[in-house]
Amino acid sequence: MDVTIRPAREEDFEEVVAWHQENGWVDDVEDLKLFKRVYGDGVIVAEDNTGSPVGFATWNILGPDIGLGGKIIVKKEHRGKGIGKKLVCAYKSCIGDRNAWLHAEIHTVDFYKKYGFVHEGYNAEIFLGSLHRDVALDVDSTVEVVRRGVAASIDDIVAYDEEITGLQDRKAFLTEFAVGSENYLISATKDGIIVGFLIAHLIKNVYRVAPFYADTAKIANRLIQFLSSEIPEGSTIELNTFTVTESIEYITEKYKLKKMDSALALFSKNSVNFPMEKIYSFAPGF
Ligand SMILES: CC(C)(COP(=O)(O)OP(=O)(O)OC[C@H]1O[C@@H](n2cnc3c(N)ncnc32)[C@H](O)[C@@H]1OP(=O)(O)O)[C@@H](O)C(=O)NCCC(=O)NCCS
Repeated sequence: MDVTIRPAREEDFEEVVAWHQENGWVDDVEDLKLFKRVYGDGVIVAEDNTGSPVGFATWNILGPDIGLGGKIIVKKEHRGKGIGKKLVCAYKSCIGDRNAWLHAEIHTVDFYKKYGFVHEGYNAEIFLGSLHRDVALDVDSTVEVVRRGVAASIDDIVAYDEEITGLQDRKAFLTEFAVGSENYLISATKDGIIVGFLIAHLIKNVYRVAPFYADTAKIANRLIQFLSSEIPEGSTIELNTFTVTESIEYITEKYKLKKMDSALALFSKNSVNFPMEKIYSFAPGF
């Protein structure tokens, strides 16, 4: 099928979100607009010869050497016609010669491997469930935990994010989450130094908690417990874990979060190592 790859436009998003939701992904139009604001022409669609979108992907630059792909999807009735291949191969024009990184759902690993994503990394999992205030966790009470006001500077958050992930060019993205009354940016500090933070961002009726990092398990517990006291009782959250460590298992068991999906991190040039013991959630595409 003859399709053209072009930058996505806001009027494409309603249709794309419908495909994402049909595929079981948590997404909404506002979220795609946010991506477009931050990543510009890295948010792409494949359009047919009438100009209608039939496929979607995001390719985001996250530093001089790395870019991340996400939300890759082809409209159901057009699958198997070579559109997915074009959306994947478009990473070269979107992020250049950088190491391309994505989370491949297990049934699509062989698809991505065909197009050069041959370096395997960690196993990623998505958890979904409700936070309840009466769940007691083993927390670090010595750290100061606060919800940042929208006017607060986030330079220390951006620096900590870079220290943990090694990724750069994240300020614009993180700043998007520091604004808006539906977003929660919760930081943990010790002697004024950041030792963890999480962001909860409402998408439809689900709070996506990502990123979520902490120096220790007890600080992570404190952050998530604080979040449960801030958002409405019983709210649904989504965690996008990298590797399920013992401390993540502790949180998912305490809150009875359910594993929804499994994915494998794939890279085009080389597999990247992250400090898994400090990463509780990092959403693909972000
Ligand atoms: C995965 C997806 C994007 C593939 O798009 P597509 O347009 O159907 O794929 P293409 O037609 O471009 O396929 C290109 C090649 O990959 C192969 N392929 C497609 N899907 C595959 C899969 N799941 N596993 C292995 N190979 C696959 C095709 O057979 C084709 O091979 P060929 O060139 O040798 O004939 C599409 O099926 C989709 O949108 N799925 C639902 C959303 C999803 O799972 N996205 C990925 C999330 S990580």
